[in-house]
Amino acid sequence: MLDVGCDHGLLACAFASAARHVTGFDITPAMIERACQLQRERGIHNLSWQIGDVSRFPFADGSFSFAFTRHTFHRFLQPAAVLAEMVRVCAPQGRVMLVDVVLPTERAVAYDYLEKLRDPSHVPVKPNPATAPSRRPAPTIPTRAKFGTALPRSRSRLAPTRPPPP
Ligand SMILES: C[S@@+](CC[C@H](N)C(=O)[O-])C[C@H]1O[C@@H](n2cnc3c(N)ncnc32)[C@H](O)[C@@H]1O
Repeated sequence: MLDVGCDHGLLACAFASAARHVTGFDITPAMIERACQLQRERGIHNLSWQIGDVSRFPFADGSFSFAFTRHTFHRFLQPAAVLAEMVRVCAPQGRVMLVDVVLPTERAVAYDYLEKLRDPSHVPVKPNPATAPSRRPAPTIPTRAKFGTALPRSRSRLAPTRPPPP
């Protein structure tokens, strides 16, 4: 199987326990380095990595029985062309699976804000034109300062209670 935009290889390594062979494909060499490290740590042998751009896969037609990608399509400038490439490298009876986030505009703003706090390299999701705008008002985005003060309180609520010192 092919994992497009495999990042640091978390899913490719997981798929390797079920697939005959997995190829992880990504444009970022640093991600592939981390993926190799994860593969070594887990002692996986039916897995290889390839650095490249999704605009043209270096694979022959019908090379894979399963072409998969997660959380990548909203980043691509020409997603339809990438989908066509995934179909090309997939065997006629194979499967192509895309997993990504699509949100109504007013929710995308809040989602992108939180994702950016977590991962500054986050690329904003594309609003779904097929989704009717909801009647709910757009959420108020907290300022960084407000968010910062709210964080310790919610963390302490989630933290396990420590037993009192003897
Ligand atoms: C959010 S990460 C994907 C996460 C991963 N698929 C997962 O589910 O854990 C997006 C990945 O897409 C890769 N990427 C972005 N543009 C690309 C392109 N044009 N060709 C290949 N990979 C690309 C990035 O390097 C990054 O590793």
